[in-house]
Amino acid sequence: MSSFNIFSMAFLLALVVIKGADLIADGLVHPIIKLEKNSYVVPGVAAQDTGKSDEASGPTLEPVEPLLAAANLENGQKVAKKRLQCHTFEKGGKAKTGPNLWDVVGNAVAHLEGYAYSKAMRTHGGTWTYEKLNEYLYKPRKSVPGTKMSFAGLKKVQDRADLIAYIASMSDSPKPFPAS
Ligand code: HEM
Repeated sequence: MSSFNIFSMAFLLALVVIKGADLIADGLVHPIIKLEKNSYVVPGVAAQDTGKSDEASGPTLEPVEPLLAAANLENGQKVAKKRLQCHTFEKGGKAKTGPNLWDVVGNAVAHLEGYAYSKAMRTHGGTWTYEKLNEYLYKPRKSVPGTKMSFAGLKKVQDRADLIAYIASMSDSPKPFPAS
């Protein structure tokens, strides 16, 4: 092999080694900034939230209490009517897939005798406050993990407020709405 070939191969090898060392050094000194959705992560540095929300974590739950006093009960009844295959709302109504919802607002979670609640619901505890109902009707399975209510939930806060105001009226002594 001619000296020229040996020389050029040695030169090339040196180039590869230098470049390789350079890349490693670069990785060590200037970490690769990974762009994650709505935030960016620098190895060893806490994620910087860019303030926008994304589906994974999902937008924050908007409260319904400020909307109840001015809620549209007619729309609430319409929303409820679409789910009559699962619940009755009137006094003394029979359980269907789900329990009767008469007087459920302000009542204990899983309060009805004789209805076979899921273990998750039976052991969940607490009462159906306006905001607990808001959370449950937004994402039932997130609010009560293990619930057997196979309902995707209601995305629009106004629909939830109208519905909750409507089912609140389904009682002998409806609970007052918080001042808005
Ligand atoms: C208008 C929409 C709905 C409202 C306001 C609503 C409300 C509720 C509430 C408040 C409970 C708990 C009741 C209690 O603690 O006594 C419940 C449970 C339940 N609902 Fe619904 N629901 C709705 C839609 C649905 C739909 C569409 C289904 C059927 C696909 C359903 C099936 C159930 C079942 C099976 C339970 C028992 C859950 C368990 O034991 O884990 N609901 N619902």
